[in-house]
Amino acid sequence: MSISVGIDKIGFYTPGLYLDMAELATARGEDPNKYLIGIGQSQQAVIPPTQDVVTMAANAASQILTPEVKDDVAMVLFGTESGIDNSKATAVYLAHLLDLSSHTRAVELKQACYGATAGLQLAADYVRVHPAAKVLVIGADIARYGLRTAGEVTQGGGAVAMLVAANPQILALEPVSSYHTADVMDFWRPVYRTEALVDGKYSTNVYLDFFKTVWTDYQQQTQRTIADFDAFAFHLPFTKMGRKGLRQILPEAAADQQATLKAAFEASQEDNRHVGNLYTGSLYLSFLSLLRHGQLTAGNRIGFFSYGSGAEGEFFSGLLQPDFRQGFDDAALTQLLAQRQRVSVAEYEAIYRRQLSNDGRDVRLAVGDDDAPYYLAGRQNQQRQYRHR
Ligand code: COA
Repeated sequence: MSISVGIDKIGFYTPGLYLDMAELATARGEDPNKYLIGIGQSQQAVIPPTQDVVTMAANAASQILTPEVKDDVAMVLFGTESGIDNSKATAVYLAHLLDLSSHTRAVELKQACYGATAGLQLAADYVRVHPAAKVLVIGADIARYGLRTAGEVTQGGGAVAMLVAANPQILALEPVSSYHTADVMDFWRPVYRTEALVDGKYSTNVYLDFFKTVWTDYQQQTQRTIADFDAFAFHLPFTKMGRKGLRQILPEAAADQQATLKAAFEASQEDNRHVGNLYTGSLYLSFLSLLRHGQLTAGNRIGFFSYGSGAEGEFFSGLLQPDFRQGFDDAALTQLLAQRQRVSVAEYEAIYRRQLSNDGRDVRLAVGDDDAPYYLAGRQNQQRQYRHR
């Protein structure tokens, strides 16, 4: 008999600053409802220079790692497209910061917003072969499009950390999944650029095409239909994107199930609406949001659509486990979001311009405003100076 493998715990971190989207709309000469309804974003995380993907991942992962669990972590798979080095993996910095055993494999995975899904599936396959092992999977990014660009409203940032294990508390992954790759130029960031190049409208169409392809293939492989699902979680670069995805398949469901799936979607977009885009972590923040705000019960089947521009899409599913509420700290996450401070558009623009320069100069950052456990203190001799309080 095959063992049950999946997501045992989830941690989430986003920095303590946010920008109000109605205020941004007004500053950009747009109707606020375009951002609030048309794009579906109310707030956006603002990332101070003292946080990068490594510190955000450490702040998320430290929520779910006890000393005993650390001993069992055999691998760290770090999905990101906003890494800090073209050679050395963020996972190595992270393993050191978290004080993990040196008997740990640590690598970075990149395929736009799909990296964490690759990590999750590789982790699950590893645990199926090594059931005593645990794998730490990270999805962490800073979504950065540029001031006054069409993508500005779809920025944000944060990190999701997942512990993949046998007999998981939260979600048992089902073994069948459907994936699809095509060489598409909808979003890319050449090594000489700090902001992505994006054909936004095209990327939304490719997202929907990929969803159709993998959803159809998954149904053919499994003989399941929409009637077998209790909820869907989508990659949410902005919440309207997932809404469009759901609308594409909703006619396949009976009327009462349509209402259930719509309600689940509202729950799944709630936290993303206030944090913005995490790129590769977005799907997993949406899943966490569904766990936190949805009307779910053990045994529910949840469908996941992961999309990374460039492009890779995957549809997979999992079954909710009886102790799923023990796998994350709901109260702490509510507090994390509630305690954030609002910044004005002028303050956001100043923070945006203050990101660590690309010239390699020594920098000492003003760390006093950042009360996160892990933070970046600056750069010395071309090395980032990570700190833990
Ligand atoms: N009230 C309500 N809705 C409004 C509105 C108003 N006053 N004004 C506009 N809208 C709606 C539009 O009808 C549109 O809805 P629709 O997509 O359902 O048709 C939506 O708001 C967006 O308007 P649009 O004119 O298309 O916005 P845009 O040209 O500024 O571009 C993106 C939107 C998403 C393409 C842009 O933000 C972007 O490039 N994002 C980055 C790329 C990305 O995230 N891709 C996702 C795939 S990974």
